[in-house]
Amino acid sequence: MCGIVGYIGDKQAAPFLLDGMSKLEYRGYDSAGIAVLEEDGHICVDKCVGHLDALRKKLEGNMPKGTAGIGHTRWATHGRPSDRNAHPHTNTSGKFVVVHNGIIENYLTLKEELMGKGYTFVSETDTEVVAQLMADLYDGSFESTVKKVLKRIKGSYSLVFMCEYDSDKLICTKKDNPLIIGLGEDENFIASDIPAIISCTRRTYVMSDGEIGTVCRDKVWVEDIDGTPITKKVFEVKWNAEAVEKGGFEHFMLKEIYEQPKSIRDTMTGRMDAEEKKINFPELKWTAEEIAGINKIFIVACGTAYHAGIVGKYYLEQLAHIPVEVDIASEFRYRAPLVDGSSLTIVISQSGETSDTMAALREARRLGSRTLAVTNVVGSSIARDADQVLYTYAGPEIAVASTKAYTTQILAMLMLAIYAGRLRGTMDRDREIVLAEGLLEIPEQVHQMLENVDQIKIFARRYGSSEDVFFIGRSLDYAVALEGALKLKEISYIHAEAYAAGELKHGTLALIVEGVPVIVLATQEDVYDKTVSNMQEVKAREAVVIAIGFEGDASLAKYADHVIYIPSTGKYLAPLLAVLPLQLLSYYAALTRGCDVDKPRNLAKSVTVE
Ligand code: G6P
Repeated sequence: MCGIVGYIGDKQAAPFLLDGMSKLEYRGYDSAGIAVLEEDGHICVDKCVGHLDALRKKLEGNMPKGTAGIGHTRWATHGRPSDRNAHPHTNTSGKFVVVHNGIIENYLTLKEELMGKGYTFVSETDTEVVAQLMADLYDGSFESTVKKVLKRIKGSYSLVFMCEYDSDKLICTKKDNPLIIGLGEDENFIASDIPAIISCTRRTYVMSDGEIGTVCRDKVWVEDIDGTPITKKVFEVKWNAEAVEKGGFEHFMLKEIYEQPKSIRDTMTGRMDAEEKKINFPELKWTAEEIAGINKIFIVACGTAYHAGIVGKYYLEQLAHIPVEVDIASEFRYRAPLVDGSSLTIVISQSGETSDTMAALREARRLGSRTLAVTNVVGSSIARDADQVLYTYAGPEIAVASTKAYTTQILAMLMLAIYAGRLRGTMDRDREIVLAEGLLEIPEQVHQMLENVDQIKIFARRYGSSEDVFFIGRSLDYAVALEGALKLKEISYIHAEAYAAGELKHGTLALIVEGVPVIVLATQEDVYDKTVSNMQEVKAREAVVIAIGFEGDASLAKYADHVIYIPSTGKYLAPLLAVLPLQLLSYYAALTRGCDVDKPRNLAKSVTVE
């Protein structure tokens, strides 16, 4: 996720900007830059790909001098990491400068419009459009031009603007991305996140969507787009520096679990037409004929991404009617898979750097397959090597245990299946509308679920000392059960196994004895009765049954010892919600057992060796 800082005051801006950006490094970034309004009234921009040290080196002996500036650490979304794509971005004359977190959904339309008027672009980013639009709409007033720009752009953003024509202020605003203003004495600050300013001030305004902050050396005011003043309450930050990095959460894993409403929304941004209830992938350059020509899909991945692939198989087979095989990357690359020119190989990888997944991708290409990468990291090796890329936009994931990457991967796979289904004629319009309506509700449903976790904390305390836990389910519930078991294993070190509920009696039932917790997922209507029968089988062996089912399902409570209810949704959408209690259960079980949640023993976030 990108980081934003801004400064205006009586001190030099550049040292503060660099220091503030270094405090945002934990979020992950691939390039960095600053813009300073120099004493001669000109804005000087310095930026480069790589870490902050590269930027510091560039500025050595040549630090821009001025007391107002903005800075940015970029985590690429549109355009690979490069000097040109790094922020800040300016219009052609360099009079308007902007830094941006988020995605400008309609940037392509705006870019075409501006190019039609003769504007030229130097980067591949969506952000540069905002800077050029400032120049195009400039009416003599910095404030009113920003408002005009905001009326034209769609998407999610936090933005900070600086302008040579009005050098005593910075203007900032946000939608669906965090932004704060820090209040000082004869100086004020802007940041995407508290760590950037905590060493300077603890007094902040936390900006809400649609609010526009004008930040001067000695005053700050906030108003809406119509100019109506907004009275902000000062929020005093009481956390220590370490807690601040984690946004007040105890661990990155928990922070990332709680980021899911936003990451899910971001994955849909630009691909979901909320009015039309239609899904499109503007980045995929496939014709309907090409999609119709795919005879088989191979999904290849490791770990959590592999589990997302299993969910994806159900989606693609049922909605797009394409046969799918899912492989663990380290197996695929050595098993002489029968891949050819009529196959599509989809590799899923959060980091885009996993060595086995990378090798599997190369093997698929060597065999003549078309390839598609579903990844979270723009410009990663896997993204560069695949024919086409679909980014998940989950933002950086720091905890080893993957959470928000998984939900955004399965969401991407579901949207891909709907899209491919439409192009192949297997998905009728009414069905797409129902699925789109359900998807649009998911971020809020996730948010609601994350507000009520007391029951899960109690279960984690009560069963956290178990040596074995089993997860069962059928169909998509089975796929989610696999991820639930992996989460519990990797961070709480409890032996956990996931079984297709119907397979349990072929061996594993021998391990189900009195008091063993069995987590039963029961969200899939087509196999619901069968799952309930399997639940009774384990109950008869005196297991402790914790069922996960939809609100309003009264029958589960008859057979289970406990029920965790999730908001009712369609069967294809259920995995997006059903996995949340499993993520939280493993998190709180790990806490109960005193485990190092973010850095579990023997595991690494990115496995770049075979
Ligand atoms: C490691 C991580 C897992 C991840 C897997 C695949 O094992 O600990 O959380 O699922 O690698 O990583 P990728 O970046 O390819 O999704």
